[in-house]
Amino acid sequence: MKVFISRDIPAQGIELMRNEGLEVTVWKVDRPMTQPELIENAKQSDALLCVFSDKIDKLFLNECRHLKVIAQLAVGYDNIDIDEATRLRIPIGNTPDVLSEATADAAFLLMLAASRKAFHLHKSIIKGEWTFFRPKANLGIELRNKTLGIFGLGRIGTEMAKRCKGAYQMDVIYCSRSRNSSAEELLQARKVEFDELLSQSDVLSVHCSLNETTNGLFNKEAFHKMKRSAIFINTARGTIHNEKDLIDALSERIIWGAGLDVTNPEPMRPSNPLLSMENVAVLPHVGSATIEARNAMSRLSAENIIHGLRGEKLPNIVNPGIYNR
Ligand code: DGY
Repeated sequence: MKVFISRDIPAQGIELMRNEGLEVTVWKVDRPMTQPELIENAKQSDALLCVFSDKIDKLFLNECRHLKVIAQLAVGYDNIDIDEATRLRIPIGNTPDVLSEATADAAFLLMLAASRKAFHLHKSIIKGEWTFFRPKANLGIELRNKTLGIFGLGRIGTEMAKRCKGAYQMDVIYCSRSRNSSAEELLQARKVEFDELLSQSDVLSVHCSLNETTNGLFNKEAFHKMKRSAIFINTARGTIHNEKDLIDALSERIIWGAGLDVTNPEPMRPSNPLLSMENVAVLPHVGSATIEARNAMSRLSAENIIHGLRGEKLPNIVNPGIYNR
């Protein structure tokens, strides 16, 4: 059986699939595929391994309804029309857990970088602006005993909270759809309403999935409810915050700083004002970009494909409902 992979991925997963006797084709051109290219290649395959920027919408799914499995190399799957895939009985797999620590590390890094203006200071050295010691210049803020607010206390949010608790004894509050009792016990975390999360957090870190309720949630109104000294961190999806409102909130000093691994649009334009703000740190959506996490994601995606092509339940299934019918 044939597997098509829409982007070059670490070799471990490809080897697993070849050892299973599968014929694997990888899109090797160094640019994202267009949707017609994706459809054309998926039509000639039994399974698709895709990435979060591929558009797996109604059109794609109906054109490629023959696919026996789609495995996404990511934990997030907002690019996939899950309801339609479920209706067409196509199993969708993802890669949870293995990237939680790497993504939490990125959130922690952005928090520190924003709090100490690290990216801005790095750029200032390149510009020849490191001159002499000024006791009142380049001052950041410390994090010890501050309040960390987590929006979406799942696996990645919990890892971020563990880091902040361990390093700085931060108080943890969170806002999530459901209660996370184990994290509450482990971190003495307290579940709060959204408005309290906004008003109490010194650092507010977003770790939810993108859906209709979270799309654009961090907007002007939300930023205005935050502390003037707060740092906003987003390593989840760029459209969860309104970028124009964030730029305004930072330039009008409604909030203190921001750290972003995700932007809207991606890639961020080099002229984006956020890139020249002192208290802002931006990364190019690299939360899961460690050798360890990407190898594991490659293996997990391959396992989803292998199980799907054997007609077995995927180890990491996003739409388990297809098995109940
Ligand atoms: C994910 O897994 O959803 C990341 O954003 C991509 O690695």
